[in-house]
Amino acid sequence: MPNTMLPIDTLKGQVAIITGGGTGIGFGIASELALLGAKVVLASRNPDHLSEAESRLRTQGCEVLAIPTDVRQPEAVDNLFDRTLEAFGQVDILVNAAAGNFIVDSEKLSVNGWNSVVQSVLHGTFYCARRAGMAMISSGRGGRILSVVASYAWTGGPRTVHSVAAKAGVVALTRSLAVEWAPHRIRVNAICPGPTDTEGARPLWQDPEDRARTLAKVPVGRFGTVQEVAQASAYLVSPYADFINGEVLVIDGGEWLGKGLTS
Ligand code: HXC
Repeated sequence: MPNTMLPIDTLKGQVAIITGGGTGIGFGIASELALLGAKVVLASRNPDHLSEAESRLRTQGCEVLAIPTDVRQPEAVDNLFDRTLEAFGQVDILVNAAAGNFIVDSEKLSVNGWNSVVQSVLHGTFYCARRAGMAMISSGRGGRILSVVASYAWTGGPRTVHSVAAKAGVVALTRSLAVEWAPHRIRVNAICPGPTDTEGARPLWQDPEDRARTLAKVPVGRFGTVQEVAQASAYLVSPYADFINGEVLVIDGGEWLGKGLTS
């Protein structure tokens, strides 16, 4: 019996698209939603990541479709939604987990580097939310949209200015769409994980000094796990969270707080 926090059929019959679903937090969320009964569409730029993720979910007995997608390309996002609607006839849940990030001094960040991250995180989230909104509004069934953000969206984050600006945009987009689309029964929320030790994020704290500095900032003294983020995400897109809208749920062991006199 799979180990899930919510009842096993919570998302039975629902269709969920997860961008960045091939690896890390995106894959963890996809796996959790699939265990809860959702049909899952994995979107990722890297076909190798996708095929591995797809076969892992199939082995768990989940219904899964994998569609190579670069969310920076509006045509690729159109293809993702068209193929999902063709295969499953509906979209109930969108999770925006695709991201890109690297640490760089801002004065050395090239225009291309800025574009690469902002287009993946902010533009990609809008392109996907837009298509999800169209499908959810025209179906009359409503839906749920969840985006993965980071707390430096509101604290600022030196040397990751591209990601900071893009995530701040996603928080603003989340709150705007939450109000605008509520009459269509679409809930729009964000989840904000703290340092979570995935392969994709590990380069950010590969250097032992960076790792120690990162951990020192987390009051509970450890990295978060993908499962913790996935379970909280599943709750937010489930009917149990039907009155939660426009919220950013921080799951970071208290990392973004703790800026008092003694810290
Ligand atoms: C400086 C860099 C760089 C680096 C890339 N660039 N890496 N500049 N330092 N470390 C520049 C390149 O020189 C190039 O500009 C431009 O960025 C595009 O690089 P490409 O490699 O051609 O782009 P692309 O293949 O599209 O890669 C996108 C990417 C990459 C964002 C750069 O890192 C990526 O796809 N990452 C996905 C995985 C990932 O980052 N996961 C982390 C998410 S974790 P020029 O000018 O040379 O052409 C996360 C959580 C943070 O965000 C929160 C923690 C609490």
